[in-house]
Amino acid sequence: MGIVSVVSSLQVMPLPEDKSAEALRLFDGLDASALWWLSGYAAALARNAPAQARAAAEPLREPLAQEHLTIVYGSQTGNARRAAEQLARDAESTGLAVRLSSAGAYPLRELAQERLLLIVISTQGDGDPPDDARGFLEFLGGKRAPKLAELRYGVLALGDSSYPKFCVIGRTLDARLAALGAIRALDLGEADVDLETVAKPWRARALTTARELLKSAPRATVTPLRPQPPAVTPTHSRENPFAAPLLANQRIVARDAGRDVRHVELSLEGSGLTYQPGDALGVWPVNPPAVVDAVLEAAALDGDEGVAHAGRSLPLRAWLARERELTRLARPFVAQHAERSRDTELNRLLAPDRAAELAAFLRERQPVDLLREQPHAWDAQGLVATLRPLAPRLYSIASSRSAVGDEAHLTVGVVDYEAFGLRHHGAASRHLADAAEDAHVSVYVEPNERFRLPADGARDIIMIGPGTGVAPFRGFVQERRETGASGRNWLLFGNRHFRSEFLYQAEWQKALHDGSLHRLDLAFSRDAAPRTHVQHKLREHGRALYAWLDDGAHLYVCGDATRMAKDVHATLLDVLVEHGGIDRERAEERLAQLVSEGRYARDVY
Ligand SMILES: Cc1cc2nc3c(=O)[nH]c(=O)nc-3n(C[C@H](O)[C@H](O)[C@H](O)COP(=O)(O)OP(=O)(O)OC[C@H]3O[C@@H](n4cnc5c(N)ncnc54)[C@H](O)[C@@H]3O)c2cc1C
Ligand SMILES: Cc1cc2nc3c(=O)[nH]c(=O)nc-3n(C[C@H](O)[C@H](O)[C@H](O)COP(=O)(O)O)c2cc1C
Repeated sequence: MGIVSVVSSLQVMPLPEDKSAEALRLFDGLDASALWWLSGYAAALARNAPAQARAAAEPLREPLAQEHLTIVYGSQTGNARRAAEQLARDAESTGLAVRLSSAGAYPLRELAQERLLLIVISTQGDGDPPDDARGFLEFLGGKRAPKLAELRYGVLALGDSSYPKFCVIGRTLDARLAALGAIRALDLGEADVDLETVAKPWRARALTTARELLKSAPRATVTPLRPQPPAVTPTHSRENPFAAPLLANQRIVARDAGRDVRHVELSLEGSGLTYQPGDALGVWPVNPPAVVDAVLEAAALDGDEGVAHAGRSLPLRAWLARERELTRLARPFVAQHAERSRDTELNRLLAPDRAAELAAFLRERQPVDLLREQPHAWDAQGLVATLRPLAPRLYSIASSRSAVGDEAHLTVGVVDYEAFGLRHHGAASRHLADAAEDAHVSVYVEPNERFRLPADGARDIIMIGPGTGVAPFRGFVQERRETGASGRNWLLFGNRHFRSEFLYQAEWQKALHDGSLHRLDLAFSRDAAPRTHVQHKLREHGRALYAWLDDGAHLYVCGDATRMAKDVHATLLDVLVEHGGIDRERAEERLAQLVSEGRYARDVY
């Protein structure tokens, strides 16, 4: 949202003139992420304001003329989508008519006609919206946003309290709808990673509210409207994963590469699971035995001790191996640890003004690092109750079913590093790297509708995928070869060294040879001085890039979100300015347009 849209939103807010001028001064010059953060911060302040100030926002419990409930979700990795789908199923099963849509597919012109809208939305990146919700949020934040005095709404925000901008997108949206005059029918829900703790009661409240408000709706006769049915309705899902036999597990970097990358092949035969190029495979990890042992030793606990928690009784070792996150440190664990160990410095680190410092602390450490400092802070019961439930990890599928049949291939960067005097592992990447020939891996398909090949095979595609970001493009090239797509395929790949880390080198060379890859540009950062990355290659070949885009090419970016995707985005803007002869603002509009046309898609992590 640019400053122009902020100004327009201030004009509909009930701010006194002097405050409005102050706010404008504060906002001036801030970038989009700072603006999003500020608005979320303001929303949190508003929620803590005295009750009488909020009373005006209490919902009126009169039945609405509208007969259906609309549920919109904004989701990057499927959690918000699943929560929204669950809500839709619950509502339908009580006889309500439901319209369920992703924010990206929602027809914005219909917003003004909505009477009851429930939104489930996650926060991504550094307080950013999920990609499919960008347009929805820009519309609401902008000049064209309608007055919504007739609308009752509720927002369920998904996030991770370990990030400094916890649930900021949901908070912002909740505040913005109120500013547009809509009536908050139920309080904002803020769900942490252990999302069902908040999502389940929120859904129950949402359902009660919807039934009260829509009580004039004729029950038996309504036809549920579902503009966007789930793309995949398999028997196996996140909650009921398929035990996929491992077919291959090969190291695809040299022994001396300094890190391990695996090519993993799994069989989906008999599972009923299907996928399209661009989709991801969800992998349920089992914590590596070395990690479980290190935690038990650091906490001075006995793995055979029985622990009853949430209606289940298991030995502590089993809880730690299959049920709890041992490799991702989260805020609630640090908070409990600080309390149990009476560590004043840790307690200070949890203060709201040190959120960025805490985020860095969490990124660098795993729970074992805290346990090693205070081995007697925990009992088995407390440990199981506080560690987060183990969650699946996503991997871009690196194959096309047209080429490999009932198989799914992955490209896995193995997390393995030394820190605080201990070897650390990543749960899923280690689990996959250690999987032996007869192993089975628990998987499901996570569709990604935003990352699709052009329906028209004659369109050119440009694929930017350094490191493991190359994975989906192996699937793209396979698919385009098998379907005889006539468009050109251009891959930009990068890594540290040509000799040791050129992932799938032989396959790309063969593809160049057989005509299924038309152009390959490489950036091996540590083979050259100064270091060269894919964005430098983009700039170097800016004229060709511009020409491809001008000709209707689709552009894809996959891989590192923290640096690469941002640098690539900035370079794309520069290329549009330089070769398109337009100014920066127009270049930004052009990229935004490419996104909305589905011609600039990102799958970054
Ligand atoms: C849509 C999507 C697609 C993805 N596709 C791929 C893919 O194709 N290939 C792929 O390899 N990954 C992919 N990922 C990332 C993948 O899901 C996992 O996050 C990754 O493999 C790490 O998971 P893990 O369980 O091994 O490690 P975890 O157990 O999740 O993490 C280990 C912990 O170690 C920390 N850590 C990690 N590395 C270091 C380090 N060097 N120094 C210090 N601390 C560190 C982390 O902060 C983390 O807390 C994708 C992610 C998404 C969301
Ligand atoms: C790369 C990445 C960045 C994230 N950034 C934030 C953040 O800034 N704030 C937050 O509250 N949650 C953040 N999260 C957590 C997600 O919001 C959370 O995992 C949510 O359940 C994802 O829902 P979705 O699958 O519907 O996108 C981030 C997650 C990822 C993978």
